[in-house]
Amino acid sequence: MKKKIITITGAAGNIAYSLIFRLLSGQIFPKNIKIQLNLLDIPESAKILKGVKYEIEDCAFKTLDSIVTTDSMEVAFGDSDYILLVGAKPRIKGMQRSDLLLDNANIFKDQGIAINKHCKDSVRIIVVGNPANTNALIVSHHTPKIPPENITSLMRLDQNRAKSIFASKINVPVPSIRRLIVWGNHSATQFPDINNVQVEGLDNFDNKYNNDWIREDFIPRVQNRGAEIIDYRGKSSAASAASAVYDHLNCIINGSGDWESMGVLTTNTYNISSEIFYSFPLNVNTNNYKVIENLEISELSYSYLKTTEEELINERDIIKDLL
Ligand code: NAD
Ligand code: LMR
Repeated sequence: MKKKIITITGAAGNIAYSLIFRLLSGQIFPKNIKIQLNLLDIPESAKILKGVKYEIEDCAFKTLDSIVTTDSMEVAFGDSDYILLVGAKPRIKGMQRSDLLLDNANIFKDQGIAINKHCKDSVRIIVVGNPANTNALIVSHHTPKIPPENITSLMRLDQNRAKSIFASKINVPVPSIRRLIVWGNHSATQFPDINNVQVEGLDNFDNKYNNDWIREDFIPRVQNRGAEIIDYRGKSSAASAASAVYDHLNCIINGSGDWESMGVLTTNTYNISSEIFYSFPLNVNTNNYKVIENLEISELSYSYLKTTEEELINERDIIKDLL
C-alpha cells in the first residue's frame, strides 16, 4: 500500500475543519494510495487539535493511512509530499487582507526556513493564509532549494466565485463555463476576466449580459466577495475556501482540462514585473503548469492588470526586511 503525506498548518482552525474532511472524502489519489495527514498547529491549539483528530478517526475514512498531530515544524514538514499553508490570522470586518501582512509574515518566514531545512525538494506547497500571494513570496524566498514552480498561492476561490456569479447571470450551469480566469492579487484589486470565456452549447452568450454589468456589478462583486462573506457570517469564508484548496490541489495532482488561476512567481509575462506572486491564466498538467501567453489584452483590461500588480509591489515593499 502506497501513501502520500499531506501537511496542513492551522489544523485546529476553521478552514482546516472543512478541508480535512473534504480531502479524506474526496478522490484526489487512486484507491491504492492512502493519505497520511500531518496536522500542525501552535501549542495553544493542542486541545482543539486532539478533538479534530478524534473526529477524523470517528469517520473511519477508507482513504486515511494515519494522522500525526504536532506543534513541531520539523515533524509536520519532514517527509511531506504536499504542504497546505493555511495557519494564519484571518481578517475581521473592516480590514483589507493586506492589513494582516505584519501579523502573519513571520509565520511564513519561519515556515519557509523550516521547509527548506527538513523537506524533500519535490514537495508542493500551496499558500492559503492571507495575504496569500505575498506570503507565498516570503516562503519562496526562504526555500531556495525548492523550485519556485512548486509553490503556488490560492486563487481558485476567486475563480470559483467568478464562475458561479457569471453562470447565474447568464443562466447556465457552472461547469459549462470555461476559460474564466482571475489575474493578480487575492484582494479587492484582482481582475476576474471574462474576455476569453467559452460557454458549452452557447455561441452567442455575450448577448445575455452587457459590459456595464461586467464593470459595475460583476468585477466589484467578485473582488469584494470575501468581505461580503465576513459581513454576513461574522467570520471569513471557511467551507468555500477549503473546497477551493481541494480543487487547487486536485488540479496540481491530476491536471485540469480548463484554464486555471493560481498565484505563481512572475517571469515578466504580460509585462508584469518579476518577483511577485501574481495570478495568471495557466494550463495545469500533472505536476507542472504553463502560463498561457499571447492573449489579447485590451487597454481597459491592461489597466486592471497593472493596478493589481502595483498593489503586490506595495505589499512586497512592506515586508522587504523579511526577504
Ligand atoms: P482560524 O483563525 O480559524 O485558524 C487559524 C489557525 O492557524 C488557528 O488554529 C491558529 O492556532 C493556527 N496558527 C496560527 N499560527 C500558526 C503557526 N505559526 N503555525 C501553525 N498554525 C498556526 O483561521 P481560518 O479561517 O482557518 O483562516 C486561515 C487563513 O486563511 C487566514 O489568514 C485567512 O485570511 C486565510 N484565507 C485565505 C483564503 C484564500 O483564498 N487565500 C480564503 C479564506 C481564508
Ligand atoms: C476570502 O476571500 O474569503 C478570504 O481571503 C478571507 C477574506 O479575508 O476575505
